[in-house]
Amino acid sequence: MPDKIKIAIAGSGNVALTLVKGLEHYKNSTEGLWHPKISGLTPNDISVSAVFDIDPSKVGKKIGQLITDHKTGFSDIIIQSGIMSDPVPSHITHSGHIKSVSYDEFVRSLKTDNPDFLVNVISSGLDKTSEKYSDAALDAGCSFFNATSSKTVTDKTKKAFETKGLMILGDDLMSQFGGTAFHRGMIDFMTNRGIKIQKAYQLDVGGNQDTMNTMAEEIREKKRNSKTESIAIETTYPFSSTAGTTEYAEQLGDSRVSYYWMEAKGFLGSTIEIDLSLRTNDSTNGCNVILDALRAAKGVLTRKDLTKIDIISTYAFKNPTKKTHIRECVKSFEDAFLN
Ligand SMILES: NC(=O)c1ccc[n+]([C@@H]2O[C@H](COP(=O)([O-])OP(=O)(O)OC[C@H]3O[C@@H](n4cnc5c(N)ncnc54)[C@H](O)[C@@H]3O)[C@@H](O)[C@H]2O)c1
Repeated sequence: MPDKIKIAIAGSGNVALTLVKGLEHYKNSTEGLWHPKISGLTPNDISVSAVFDIDPSKVGKKIGQLITDHKTGFSDIIIQSGIMSDPVPSHITHSGHIKSVSYDEFVRSLKTDNPDFLVNVISSGLDKTSEKYSDAALDAGCSFFNATSSKTVTDKTKKAFETKGLMILGDDLMSQFGGTAFHRGMIDFMTNRGIKIQKAYQLDVGGNQDTMNTMAEEIREKKRNSKTESIAIETTYPFSSTAGTTEYAEQLGDSRVSYYWMEAKGFLGSTIEIDLSLRTNDSTNGCNVILDALRAAKGVLTRKDLTKIDIISTYAFKNPTKKTHIRECVKSFEDAFLN
């Protein structure tokens, strides 16, 4: 069985804090876990060694001061300063004041913490910073997991990590039952039933901090492209499709509503139309996938069998370098790691 997994987390927002709560909760339960055991590992085999942020209202605080409704074994971890290579988003501070450290200082702290993985869950749209975090992971000798939609995984970065016996996983986490997975699942089902899709859209409304950040047109455009490309893999023919975050509505909190409309053609060109909505919770929806991917990745690193990295990436991300149908992603992942 592989050794236990040590992670450092960049970004102490919704996803990071939910993940930490989950690690505590699943010490004593398996209810709600998609895969209780992956590569012989349970969530109890994962520990957090460090958390980084640049928000001055978070840096220096203990994790226990941010997670006030649960007591966790990680409550005493003090949030350290991370790095920032992009303009400071206004949701973090209008004054532009952040608490960050230099690249070299960050690499030194990462080396001291010595995690297996640096998990990148920083705010959307910080492309240069996510790239720097992946460089830092490589320099510090740990693997990198990129949940953000920033592009960090390329043939070049994959090779650089693999040369050191490490891995880079990404990009853009695909939630367990989020807007993209559900959309892909519906297309897969329609295609499987011989129906030809003509046009489709998916419009998302969310109320958390990340949705608010995504409202900047440039970020919204990138996320829309990431989701639209991810969905396109499910058919062998092109169809007119749009998918993306459309609006921020504070009232929704950490939940998200995805509105779908699809038009397809059947026998004699008859029209089939789908019009529905899906409401989910964002941060919890991502955590099963993160836990699964980290445990599978640790197994691969321990067995030094890096050929299986693509199986993890196609299962866990919307934009992996190699794409496969949603049904195959899950099957290949379970065939490879469920034991
Ligand atoms: N299911 C999901 O929730 C899901 C799915 C796909 C992708 N993602 C991505 O995961 C990321 C995290 O989502 P979230 O809901 O936790 O966001 P969030 O806004 O709640 O948290 C982001 C955190 O990152 C911090 N941060 C910003 N810049 C930083 C830097 N340079 N270094 C360290 N920390 C920094 C912010 O201060 C904040 O604490 C986002 O990029 C999101 O798009 C989430």
